[in-house]
This record gives sequence, structure tokens and C-alpha cells, in this order.
Amino acid sequence: MSDVQSNLTSRRTVYEYLDQVVDDTILDKAFIAANNAPSHKQTNPWRFYLLGRETRTNLLPDVIELARQKAKSNGIEDFEKAEKRAVSKIMDPPVLVAITSKVNSVDSFRENEDYAATVCALHNAILSLWDSGVGSQWSTGAITRHENTYTAIGISDDKERIIGFLKAGYPQKKDLRSKNKKELSEIRFYLP
Ligand SMILES: Cc1cc2nc3c(=O)[nH]c(=O)nc-3n(C[C@H](O)[C@H](O)[C@H](O)COP(=O)(O)O)c2cc1C
Repeated sequence: MSDVQSNLTSRRTVYEYLDQVVDDTILDKAFIAANNAPSHKQTNPWRFYLLGRETRTNLLPDVIELARQKAKSNGIEDFEKAEKRAVSKIMDPPVLVAITSKVNSVDSFRENEDYAATVCALHNAILSLWDSGVGSQWSTGAITRHENTYTAIGISDDKERIIGFLKAGYPQKKDLRSKNKKELSEIRFYLP
């Protein structure tokens, strides 16, 4: 298998990371890969914001409130445990990135195309990280959509939309399995 093909097929989402710094050169390589993604009309609609401890800490009041609400609606009584887990999901990943795509209030088709391009850029970054031995998880949890998150990052929701957070770091587990992948025959159809 070619290196490229094995990179594509071996990548798995990673949820638990070693307490090990990811070097800036590895991150820059990933963002260069991201920045070479295609975009229709060359809009380059993607932006990557790396969240340091101070910015992450500013998110915590909302992270805790959202965890409390979710626990309540799921009938979970141990709020403290749910809150602790939610805080660690934001504070523990060695790398936390908010990815935004350009908003276009007058042209929803263009906005959609830009979203598609930003997804390509993000996945380029994910695959580049994977090639460097760094695992990641794309997250669209409620905090990524909260209005205060825009304030914490210092962006305006009429110009940029957060399409998710990327958590990244060296994987704790080595044997990452693919789950629920379909057979090729279920997803590929040759037409006459
Ligand atoms: C748009 C998008 C949003 C995602 N959001 C979340 C999320 O909020 N929480 C999470 O645990 N995983 C999230 N994931 C990761 C998926 O759960 C994961 O890709 C899926 O389980 C398939 O596993 P694989 O990436 O190892 O192939 C997201 C993936 C995508 C593409």
C-alpha cells in the first residue's frame, strides 16, 4: 500500500492523549497542508485558532453549565462527575484548535461551498498530523456553537462560523480499530 493510501485508511479518531507537547513544526506542517486545500473561487475560507490555557479557561463557565444541562436532560444525577469530565475534555488535550469558515449572509450557496472547502482543509490537517504520529478528534459539541465561544476567541459570528474544535496529541492507545465502517459494496455503485 502506498504511504498516502495507508495514511488515509489507518487514521482513526483519537480521544485520549499522552501528556506530551506537540512541536510547533508538526502543527505548522499540518496548517500548511490545510492551507493547500481546494476552495472554489479561491476564497480560502478557513481560519485556525489555537486555544491556549487562558482562552480555554475563559470557556469553562459555559462548559460547566452545558455539562450540567446535558446531565440533567439525560437523567444523570452526578453533576460533579459530568462537569469534571467536560472540563478535562477542554483543558487536557495538548492541542485545541477552533476551526472557522467564512459566513456569507447574501449567498448561501457560496457559504456552503466554503464550508465544504474548510472541511477539506481541516481533514488535510488531520491527515498531516496523523502522518506525524499525532492523533486528533473533531468535535462539534455544544461549546463549539456557544455565542460566548466567539467572544472568547475574539471573532464575530457574522463573519466566521466555528465548524468545530480539533483536539490533538500523541495517542495513548496504539491499537485503534475502525468501527462501523461499511463494506465498499454498500457505498460504491457503478452505473451503466
Ligand atoms: C463533522 C464531525 C463532527 C464530529 N463531532 C464529534 C463530537 O462532537 N464528538 C465525538 O466524540 N466525535 C466527533 N466526531 C468524530 C466521529 O465520532 C468519528 O469520526 C467516527 O466515530 C468515526 O471514527 P473514525 O474517525 O475513527 O473513523 C466528529 C466527526 C465529524 C466528521
